[in-house]
This record gives sequence, C-alpha cells and structure tokens, in this order.
Amino acid sequence: MRAIYPSLKGKRVFISGGASGIGEGFVEAFVAQGAHVAFCDIAQDAGDALAQRLGAHFHRCDLRDIEAVQAMMTQVETELGGIDIVINNAANDDRHSIADVTPAYWDERMAVNLRHQFFVAQAAVPAMKRAGGGAIINLGSISWHLGLADLVLYETAKAAIEGLTRGLARELGRENIRVTTIIPGNVKTPRQEQWYTPEGEAEIVAAQCMDGRLMPADVAALALFLASDDARLITGHNYWVDAGWR
Ligand SMILES: NC(=O)c1ccc[n+]([C@@H]2O[C@H](COP(=O)([O-])OP(=O)(O)OC[C@H]3O[C@@H](n4cnc5c(N)ncnc54)[C@H](O)[C@@H]3O)[C@@H](O)[C@H]2O)c1
Repeated sequence: MRAIYPSLKGKRVFISGGASGIGEGFVEAFVAQGAHVAFCDIAQDAGDALAQRLGAHFHRCDLRDIEAVQAMMTQVETELGGIDIVINNAANDDRHSIADVTPAYWDERMAVNLRHQFFVAQAAVPAMKRAGGGAIINLGSISWHLGLADLVLYETAKAAIEGLTRGLARELGRENIRVTTIIPGNVKTPRQEQWYTPEGEAEIVAAQCMDGRLMPADVAALALFLASDDARLITGHNYWVDAGWR
C-alpha cells in the first residue's frame, strides 16, 4: 500500500546512478507514479535491463566526465520534453586509508561523489525555470555524521553536498525550484552487502532506534514526497531516513 501523488503523474524525472541499489528503487518508484523517467549509470547491462523492464530511458554515462554529463542532459531534456525533477543519487563509497590518498585519488573521489551533483543541477535548471519550477534532491549520507571509519574522502564529499543543497536552495527558491538532501542510514543494497557480515548488520540494527533493515523503497518513499507538490514549500534542508541510527 504505497502513496500515489497526483502531482507526480507525467513529471519528467532524471535520476543519476539509477541502474542498481537505491537508484533503481527511485526509478521504479517514479515510474509507478506515472512519471517519465530517464536515468544514467556506468553499469551498461543493468541499466539496459532496467530500462527495458520499466520503459525508462537509460544513458550510459560516466559522471566523472562533465562534458559527457552536459551532452547527456541535453539529450534527456529532448527525450523527456523538459525536466521537472532531478535526483542526484550516484556515488561510490570505496574504502581508503589516509596514507593511501594521492592528489589524483582525491580529485577522482570528489568527481564521483560530489562534482556531478552540481553540474547535473546546473544543466537542468534552465528547463525547470521554463516549466515554472522543479525539485532537486541530493543524496547525502549518514556516514560523516557518525564518523564511520575508512571513508574520509567520501565523508568529505557527502558533507559538502549538504552545503550544496543550502546554496542551491537560496539561489533557486524564487524560481520555484526546491532543493533538498536525503540522508539515508544503512540501506540494504547489493553493493552494501559486500561490506557487512550478518554480525555487522546486527550491530547496525542494534544502533538504530527501530528494528528492521532499510530498503531502497523506504528511501524512495521520502523522495516521492519531497518531489511532489505536497512538499511545495520544503527546501534547503536535510531529511533523514535511517531508522534512528545513532
Ligand atoms: N546504501 C546505503 O546504505 C547508503 C547510505 C548512505 C548514503 N547512501 C547514498 O545513496 C546513494 C545510492 O547509494 P547505493 O547504496 O544505492 O549505491 P550503489 O553503489 O548501489 O549505486 C550507485 C550507482 O551509481 C553508479 N555509479 C557509480 N559511479 C558512477 C559513475 N562514475 N558514473 C555513473 N554512475 C555511477 C553505480 O554503478 C550504481 O549503479 C549514494 O549517493 C550513496 O552515497 C547510501
């Protein structure tokens, strides 16, 4: 029994990193609302399969390449006939130690976790202005709030995303474009499975206020609300879906 938002029907939605995990959940959820969805990923086979299954548009794009991002966003706007909603979802949480970080690795981590969020938003804003408004949702992370280990660069990028949200919200609010951050707790996805043993998962659940493992659909439920007209004056802040993990 999931909510249907009448205001999302027919909306033109772009989702980055939509081929797997939480992003796949966003693609499924917005398609189920009757929205027109385009998404990108580097994972060609998974992207093709999902696009075929749901009737969404898939673009194979490496978000670290900003020229490719800009070209893709032009294509997305053309194929959807505009852009109303952007979900900046793609990221990569590879572990690293301080001693192993080189300047090149720093730049690459910021490129995969932070930089594209700004440039995707920048590319979508003119279409949103023409449409009379829009919603941009950036995916942050609980990791830096908790100070988790072996993730210094990922946490640096994810902290910056909250600043990006506040800055964009200030710049774009008068254009009726809302910008928010979703901060997931630990969400059970195929990629996360590689980091956690059953004992590790049990530790996370024990640190949550509530039992249960978060699933991509739980994060998508928040994104649907934030993207809908029901959230018409909600902007510039962060929204958590973490089962109370502390
Ligand atoms: N899963 C969690 O527990 C969790 C917790 C906190 C925050 N998040 C955030 O939620 C978002 C989704 O996380 P997820 O767990 O689904 O991650 P994931 O790794 O399962 O999915 C991310 C997607 O982005 C794609 N991607 C990675 N690099 C890319 C690139 N250079 N160009 C294009 N696509 C690329 C991947 O192929 C993948 O499909 C991320 O922003 C992540 O930081 C997740």
